[in-house]
Amino acid sequence: MRVVDLIRKKRDAGEHSREEIEFLINGYTRGEIPDYQMAAWLMAVFLRGMTKAELTALTEAMLYSGKVLDFTDLRPKLPGTGKTIPGLVDKHSTGGVGDKTSLIIAPIVAAGGLVVPMISGRGLGHSGGTLDKLEAIPGFRVNLSNEEFRAALEKCGCALIGQTAEIAPADKKIYVLRDVIGTVESPSLICASIMSKKLAEGIEGLVLDVKTGSGAFMKKEEDAAYLAELMVETGKRMGKKVVALITDMDQPLGRLAGNALEVKESIEVLAGGGPSDLRELCLELAAWMFLLGERVSNLEEGRALAAEMIASGRARDKFREIVRQQGGDVVVVDDPEKLPLARNKVDVKSASAGYLVSTQCEQLGIACVVLGGGREKKEDAIDPAVGLEFHKRVGDAVRVGEALCTIHYNADARLDEARKLVETAYMIAAEPPKNLRSLVHRVIGA
Ligand code: URA
Repeated sequence: MRVVDLIRKKRDAGEHSREEIEFLINGYTRGEIPDYQMAAWLMAVFLRGMTKAELTALTEAMLYSGKVLDFTDLRPKLPGTGKTIPGLVDKHSTGGVGDKTSLIIAPIVAAGGLVVPMISGRGLGHSGGTLDKLEAIPGFRVNLSNEEFRAALEKCGCALIGQTAEIAPADKKIYVLRDVIGTVESPSLICASIMSKKLAEGIEGLVLDVKTGSGAFMKKEEDAAYLAELMVETGKRMGKKVVALITDMDQPLGRLAGNALEVKESIEVLAGGGPSDLRELCLELAAWMFLLGERVSNLEEGRALAAEMIASGRARDKFREIVRQQGGDVVVVDDPEKLPLARNKVDVKSASAGYLVSTQCEQLGIACVVLGGGREKKEDAIDPAVGLEFHKRVGDAVRVGEALCTIHYNADARLDEARKLVETAYMIAAEPPKNLRSLVHRVIGA
């Protein structure tokens, strides 16, 4: 087989065989296929799409590019009964702006007795990544070996790591490439990326948070639902319990976006505070994880258990334990001001009075990247301190000169571009919006 023939085949809307897909994925993972050929093939997939058979082959080739972990011996017991439950669970989001739910949910669910082996990603396109956020905590290591991953799960029931040379290595390489070649927003590529790393984790249940709206990769609800169905089907075919919540990303989640700022806000929620939209979504996603892991028998009980983990302080203690075991400085858990802080702040003020009716949320995510909080090229280093602080939510009244957003920045050279993006991201009108979008639009696969 020749790579160039396979690129031409997909360019001309042909259908690949399983062998062709395995040839491409294995060759790229081993370093035998160069970035430029893989980039061309990914762009052809982006433009032409994939059939279900191709997608299955792609997901499996990426999954088996590394080891598939087995943690069944770590399955937890239902408290008070001694009964073993299918409590190896995880959640994954398709990505958005200010979406820091993993940092909050993982400790809540582990504190509630389930086991959470979480393999996450870095920032992708305009969206932030859990690994970049965690690395804003001084010393935090996301690159644990398989042995360290297992030991962490045995000891505290949770670890958050990245794809490695051993686990989902194909996704590790393809993810970085997609980020800088404009091929993120493809349902097939997102499905294979997410499901290959999630299926490699050895979990039994998976909750997917599929974002829709101006800050999501799937802007239209029907595209988000299509992606959700693809992922739910893929997971179920592999014998997992999977549900997908289609959730709103038409405005940022919470009040802060940017790596260290999002860690700070996560700690606020774990301490019982934080913005209500973020807290509500975390309780909902955690409740589904408790339900899939058979820790509770209905969603209401799941929500109550998640809330109890926060109120009792057990979720925050669990977060502290996770930070410590992954080498991070636990001082930040009690004093988030010890996280990296930007040297400068400037407000973006409203030029008109009225109501905030919508945000161009993707633009706010791009502003974070421009400030240095994300990557424009593969080799870019992240500035953990920069980001945005949002003062208004859709539906809020706004006065002339009132701050809509505060930009936290370090490099003056990056400010103008970021400020323009923020200024033009807010739509103010004389009348309030007729309908406010709900946080959870629907659930697929339940
Ligand atoms: N999250 C992932 O892990 N992969 C994608 O492609 C998009 C979001």
